[in-house]
Amino acid sequence: MQKDIPHIVIAVTSASGKLGASIVKHLIHIIGKDNVIGIARTPERAKHLGVEIRKGDYNNREDFNEALKGVNVVLLVSGMDQPDQRIIQHRNVIEAAKKNGVDKIVYTSIVGAEENNAFSPIVQSNRQTEKDVQDSGLEWVIGRNGIYIEPDLEYLDTYVKEGEIRNCAADGKCTYTSREELGEAYAKMLTEEKHNKRVYNLVGDAITQSQLASDINQVFNTNLVYNSVSVKAYRAERTAALGDFMGTVIAGIYEGIKNGANDVTSDFEKAAGRPHISTIEMMKTFKRTQD
Ligand SMILES: NC(=O)c1ccc[n+]([C@@H]2O[C@H](COP(=O)([O-])OP(=O)(O)OC[C@H]3O[C@@H](n4cnc5c(N)ncnc54)[C@H](OP(=O)(O)O)[C@@H]3O)[C@@H](O)[C@H]2O)c1
Repeated sequence: MQKDIPHIVIAVTSASGKLGASIVKHLIHIIGKDNVIGIARTPERAKHLGVEIRKGDYNNREDFNEALKGVNVVLLVSGMDQPDQRIIQHRNVIEAAKKNGVDKIVYTSIVGAEENNAFSPIVQSNRQTEKDVQDSGLEWVIGRNGIYIEPDLEYLDTYVKEGEIRNCAADGKCTYTSREELGEAYAKMLTEEKHNKRVYNLVGDAITQSQLASDINQVFNTNLVYNSVSVKAYRAERTAALGDFMGTVIAGIYEGIKNGANDVTSDFEKAAGRPHISTIEMMKTFKRTQD
């Protein structure tokens, strides 16, 4: 635990998820495990983190009225439900934070196009929660997360089987990040006051899908190529594989990348106090966790 950090209790929602767990892990390094509380819809999935775990389902404001007792700062991880439902879920946490006298709320939002593709309703719901957080009267910090690199790497076996990465992003650039990088940035944003009232794009280098394939080949010794297909063809393929909601969302994400929505300037260094690691380094870090 660092000596210059004032005594504060920080709670992290969705602590059973991968992002929440990464933030908890990095927070423990800064303020010590006795000052960190994990909040989880399914508490037993977060027990391994070694901190106090309290119950918190975003659909249940009463859970958060209890879970946020004695908490100074709360990290709100964005939910997974349909966009309209997410806004209501996030408000349950914000209102409970106000009721409990929480000082500061940090929200994990997302980079992306607010209009013109099938992912936009999700981006809009994140923007609405950003506004709700800013209007809450509490201190606030907002991180707009880039796309996580890990799901692509977890999908590697399929890419290898197919010999290609195929989607509709064409030559669009995407600024990927990782949950590990985000965990460190959020731990700083939670504990350092200089980030208050800032909105940060938490992303790494901007790369094309061809570069992604080439970086994967270098790190994982594969032979992938990148092939671009039309938005229409990709949406049809993904909805057949994943169902209407998820397939449309995934196609919308790559359509956004094609149109430049994920090619944003990074504020990661302002948040974390060091530059974001490269895509190759993120891949190597992921590979080490798999070995
Ligand atoms: N930037 C990106 O590329 C990207 C990609 C995917 C998602 N996201 C967003 O980032 C968030 C965190 O991602 P992740 O990697 O940590 O996802 P993850 O590992 O799949 O974890 C999702 C978490 O959300 C929790 N959750 C779902 N519904 C909830 C509810 N009603 N109340 C409370 N908690 C609930 C889950 O709790 P249980 O353990 O109870 O299921 C779990 O802890 C996601 O929720 C999503 O909004 C971003």
